[in-house]
Amino acid sequence: MYAAVMLFVSMCLTATTLADHHQPCHSPNMTGHMSVLNLKGELKANGVYTYDSLAKKLRFRSNETEGYNTSLTLDVLMFFEEGVFYEIDSKNQSCEKKSLQSVHNPLEIPSDAKFLSTITIGSVSIEGEGLKVNVWMGTVPETKAHYSISSTMGCLPVSALFFLDSTTVLFSNLQVETEIKDPDLLTLPSFCEGEPLEETPEGTVNSFTNLFI
Ligand SMILES: *[C@@H]1O[C@H](CO)[C@@H](O)[C@H](O)[C@H]1NC(C)=O
Ligand SMILES: *[C@@H]1O[C@H](CO)[C@@H](O)[C@H](O)[C@H]1NC(C)=O
Ligand SMILES: *[C@@H]1O[C@H](CO)[C@@H](O)[C@H](O)[C@H]1NC(C)=O
Ligand SMILES: *[C@@H]1O[C@H](CO)[C@@H](O)[C@H](O)[C@H]1NC(C)=O
Repeated sequence: MYAAVMLFVSMCLTATTLADHHQPCHSPNMTGHMSVLNLKGELKANGVYTYDSLAKKLRFRSNETEGYNTSLTLDVLMFFEEGVFYEIDSKNQSCEKKSLQSVHNPLEIPSDAKFLSTITIGSVSIEGEGLKVNVWMGTVPETKAHYSISSTMGCLPVSALFFLDSTTVLFSNLQVETEIKDPDLLTLPSFCEGEPLEETPEGTVNSFTNLFI
């Protein structure tokens, strides 16, 4: 995994193919699996997500029953358009509502991202053994984090790397299906309704990405 990441980083740094005609694409609706790893070798979270790319809603629930030790347990429902998100505790039927200072997330390529190159992971010539991806780079304005996101030709995000201060976090997007399998996951649980908005401490930038940094 580490070697793969370093290869990815060095490819990003050495690739110089710049083309103006590439415009960032929009991700489709998705259901998938996401794993989040920081480059200290810590598996931060492992879980399933549901993403509505039109209404800009994201649910992520970490899944601890997969045999790995993860350092975070999360169940979050993000409403990017409204600029709020909920941290949900289903067992306890409790909820915290917070404001989002940045809508940036690893499943969407920002409209101001710069196209870096098109590369093939695996084999270029052997049928079914290669994955062609576009690589994008940029900076999140609110956090100054640098990112590199790769996506398939059909705009499915494959992986996203974020560099902030001395922290590097890798989001891997796996087992993607381009549909919302359970729309209920994107509706607010009744026990969250009417929850007051928590105050954001001075200097804090809440974003999906920052939950893992
Ligand atoms: C994505 O899902 C939402 C909610 O189910 C739906 O309204 C929208 O049309 C879907 N978008 C696409 C591109 O399928
Ligand atoms: C968690 O992972 C296990 C094993 O892969 C799976 O059976 C289960 O459905 C997952 N739970 C959720 C909430 O995704
Ligand atoms: C998970 O953590 C526990 C307690 O810290 C440890 O005993 C166990 O070996 C760890 N399991 C794995 C797979 O790393
Ligand atoms: C359940 O929620 C209460 C109130 O928010 C909290 O104090 C408590 O720690 C929670 N319990 C668990 C097991 O998370």
